[in-house]
Amino acid sequence: MDMKAFFKLSYGLYVISAHSGGKDYGCVVNTLQQVTAQPAMLSVAINKNSVTTKAILESGRFCGVALTEAADMDLIGTFGFKNSEAVDKFAAFPTAADQKGVRYLTAHTAARYSCEVKDTLDLGSHLLVIGSVTEAEILSEEPVMTYDYYHRVVKGGTPPTAPSYKGNQEVEPAGKARWRCKICGYIYEGNPLPADFVCPICGQGADHFEKI
Ligand SMILES: Cc1cc2nc3c(=O)[nH]c(=O)nc-3n(C[C@H](O)[C@H](O)[C@H](O)COP(=O)(O)O)c2cc1C
Repeated sequence: MDMKAFFKLSYGLYVISAHSGGKDYGCVVNTLQQVTAQPAMLSVAINKNSVTTKAILESGRFCGVALTEAADMDLIGTFGFKNSEAVDKFAAFPTAADQKGVRYLTAHTAARYSCEVKDTLDLGSHLLVIGSVTEAEILSEEPVMTYDYYHRVVKGGTPPTAPSYKGNQEVEPAGKARWRCKICGYIYEGNPLPADFVCPICGQGADHFEKI
């Protein structure tokens, strides 16, 4: 099987969120998509170990926002590499809540879809969650972030928790020593990599870096 064939699949980039036990949860996904129009339904493949998944299953609801090209690694690093139990991911970003109280991002977002969970399919590492859309709105007319744009222009990585994980991103060769975060793809230039270095994107320590 040529794994590079999977690189030809196209995706967008989204943050899905849920509210459970008085707390807000959210994570980046590239697997949100519309599956039917009448009624309007979306599906998303979410990791069973993600705490956002737990909140979605507990509350029976989730909200998805489509990110725009202006979404930076500060936002994507927070929602795509950190744990909602450990960090209040929404604290540093403008948000609103839908009619059921599910918080969602309003900056660097193009559209919002609030959903009620209709079904789930166990895929092993992930659950495929099917949601019926109860509210939908345009948030801006800015160009949406595609997965390709995220890798090519933003130069972000994808953690192993994403269903479409395909290892670290290719990087340009450079004259000096470079170290790559195995979690998010962040590149540190210099030698040696300080033992107490912490990745500014995903918060992992020096033991998660490899020399490239
Ligand atoms: C570009 C990108 C795409 C991702 N796609 C998915 C996805 O489709 N499904 C998923 O479960 N996690 C995906 N993730 C990983 C989650 O966002 C990540 O594991 C997050 O830290 C989970 O947060 P939580 O534990 O607070 O729920 C993706 C992350 C990035 C950066």
